[in-house]
Amino acid sequence: MNASLIDLVKGMPKAELHIHIEGSLEPELIFKLAERNQVKLAYPSVEALRAAYAFTDLQSFLDIYYAGASVLLQEQDFFDMTWAYLLRAKADNVRHVEMFFDPQTHTARGVPLAAVFGGIDRALQQARTELGISSALIMCFLRHLSEKEAFEVLEQALPYCDKIIGVGLDSSERGHPPEKFEHVFARCRELGLRLVAHAGEEGPPAYISAALDLLHVERIDHGVRCLEDPALVQRLVRDKIPLTVCPLSNIKLCVFGQMSDHNLPALLNAGLKAMINSDDPAYFGGYMNDNFVACFSALPLGREHALQLARNSFEAAFLDAPQKQRYVDEVETYFKNH
Ligand code: HPA
Ligand code: ZN
Repeated sequence: MNASLIDLVKGMPKAELHIHIEGSLEPELIFKLAERNQVKLAYPSVEALRAAYAFTDLQSFLDIYYAGASVLLQEQDFFDMTWAYLLRAKADNVRHVEMFFDPQTHTARGVPLAAVFGGIDRALQQARTELGISSALIMCFLRHLSEKEAFEVLEQALPYCDKIIGVGLDSSERGHPPEKFEHVFARCRELGLRLVAHAGEEGPPAYISAALDLLHVERIDHGVRCLEDPALVQRLVRDKIPLTVCPLSNIKLCVFGQMSDHNLPALLNAGLKAMINSDDPAYFGGYMNDNFVACFSALPLGREHALQLARNSFEAAFLDAPQKQRYVDEVETYFKNH
């Protein structure tokens, strides 16, 4: 391992564009909130819960992830979870975050959206002033539920629309293709929201094409299976569609056998606008810099790739052009000095 390259990637300014905030709930905080809220957990201890984090695919993870989120009830719980993540992001030199959350996971348990939006937004505001981290919030629809239910949560979220920059699509991918949500995404587009969707994580490349053609998304979350379709790769390169890649997630959910098998170098070398993200860091073995260290230790990636990843992360963000330029300048200055 090249120590100076590892230090370089740890210290460089970066943006995180694929983080499910409920996936940042560490077992210790799950137990603390369970006690505070009198929620009964199916696991006797932090250690027993952590020991259950042996996943075989996306669904085996989602079952435990939704159980973990069951401790979130009060506005303060959403604040505490989000603030804990932001402190970790700060330590990893994350300068800008675009954060997913799953409102339906909470409304299904009777939690008011006011508590969800209030707690997350308060932490993001505090991070702007106290940590110097800029941010945006992306509301995800759960694709294992119906489009009707997606419309219902969108309706309930309308009073908070100024707090979100866009919408996404997550949860169980296989068997729930993008076309299931064509109408609700069209409505979100009319509302002026930015659009993203998980596609091509476990699902086939056709789901990536469908997300672009039918949902009109601007970024693809994951998208690693695009390499199976050369015509699709050409299109993604031509249209500069960003791919929010999550390497440790892909290993934990068995999308790739081990990190040395990951296709991140192939994605970058093909000219795709990929960057590194943590997805669900409490469940997948680490935050941003853990992902960078794992990738740069196991894969044929060098200084040019590091620069590309940092630049891509800001260029793919939903920031206005001057803000993007400021961050890209910051990256370039960092690389001049290191
Ligand atoms: N994939 C799909 N849905 C999710 C994920 C993921 O990695 N994390 C949280 N919801
Ligand atoms: Zn994800």
